[in-house]
Amino acid sequence: MDLLRFQDELDAETRASLRQSVSRIDYPLMKRLFESTKSFDASKNASERKVSPVTSVRKAPELFELGQNLIRGGEAAAVTMAGGQGTRLGHKGPKGTYDIGLPSHRSLFELQCDSLRAAGGGTIIPWYIMTGEENHAATVAFFEKHGYFGYGKENIRFFRQGTLPLLNTDGEPFLSDKGTLCTGPDGNGGVFRAAAEQGVYEDMETRGVKYVFICGVDNAAVRMADPVLLGLAKRSGSEIVSKSVAKRSPEEKAGVFCLMDGKPGVIEYSELPDELRYLRGDDGELVYNDANIIAHVFPLDVLKRISETGLPYHTAFKKMPYVDETGAVVVPEKENAYKYETFVFDAFAYCRDMTVMRVDRKEFSPVKNRTGQDSPETARAALEAQGIR
Ligand code: UTP
Repeated sequence: MDLLRFQDELDAETRASLRQSVSRIDYPLMKRLFESTKSFDASKNASERKVSPVTSVRKAPELFELGQNLIRGGEAAAVTMAGGQGTRLGHKGPKGTYDIGLPSHRSLFELQCDSLRAAGGGTIIPWYIMTGEENHAATVAFFEKHGYFGYGKENIRFFRQGTLPLLNTDGEPFLSDKGTLCTGPDGNGGVFRAAAEQGVYEDMETRGVKYVFICGVDNAAVRMADPVLLGLAKRSGSEIVSKSVAKRSPEEKAGVFCLMDGKPGVIEYSELPDELRYLRGDDGELVYNDANIIAHVFPLDVLKRISETGLPYHTAFKKMPYVDETGAVVVPEKENAYKYETFVFDAFAYCRDMTVMRVDRKEFSPVKNRTGQDSPETARAALEAQGIR
């Protein structure tokens, strides 16, 4: 269908914005992605790579001072990836603005800000927040409204991740209403390039930053810029250091750290074959037991290098409203649209080495779902159990 078919019915502003989105579609890329979807076979994909285990280290308190010195010297920065759509949570507004119901009514963003302030111990750690096209304005407005939580507007910088059109089952971009192209954020792996394109690395360099902590927006218990993790990054000289938690059970739906074809990586839950999922070592522990909690530290020069590398795309099949030939919006009952995303952990394959540091579960309380597991309720209970109100 012609994407501009209804343009005469639109007001001038909507028409201009639609025309701009349509003109930006990278058709050769979308064609390539759709073709890879058609030929994609998940079971084959996983078994083609040789998966081997990695050993994690434990939290060594003596690294705290090393990390703290690095922070005091202005060598640390933090990045929050908050460009996702948070569809499972279904909160109206950016996920970081969600109040998990603590007595202090702190939003996820404010909890992160508290944690960052604590890690700084008097030094302000510059904070970069990645937003998506859809939630950028609302995120900035939220920080404005809350006076940047007293952290200083000059110490918080927003940057926007890229978007990609979704494709219908014929492989074509489509409209979600008469004036809007259906697009989505290009996955958290978009962070590397978005930061490069929007001058984030330059800004970090000017400030003397050498190590960058990167996390998602949805771990209510995250230890932002944890000095121990930063200290480990310095001590190990690794190109990635990353936190893990031990899996609760083999069935916990989490990606685990491993080597893939000898390179650092994370294997998704759905891709881990059963014989590895249940495999135990001589000590009785699961061999693939270190779950990724999206808390990484990269040296800045490694980030810059990765930003020049193209990451592979993963495909999700989603239910997305679309406009039919008559202009009516149809809400589908079945999945009808392919969404393409890159993931941060796919960049690990481009790194020489990785050090994984296992931490206590209390550092991980994700807010993913509306109710049940990994929901605001479980996160609130976990924080209150630690006396965080
Ligand atoms: P999730 O995979 O949980 O995705 O993101 P999501 O979009 O937040 O939630 P659902 O799947 O729609 O329910 C993990 C982290 O990566 C960030 C998210 O904001 C979250 O912190 N993310 C995800 C991005 O920054 N950009 C993206 O395009 C996707």
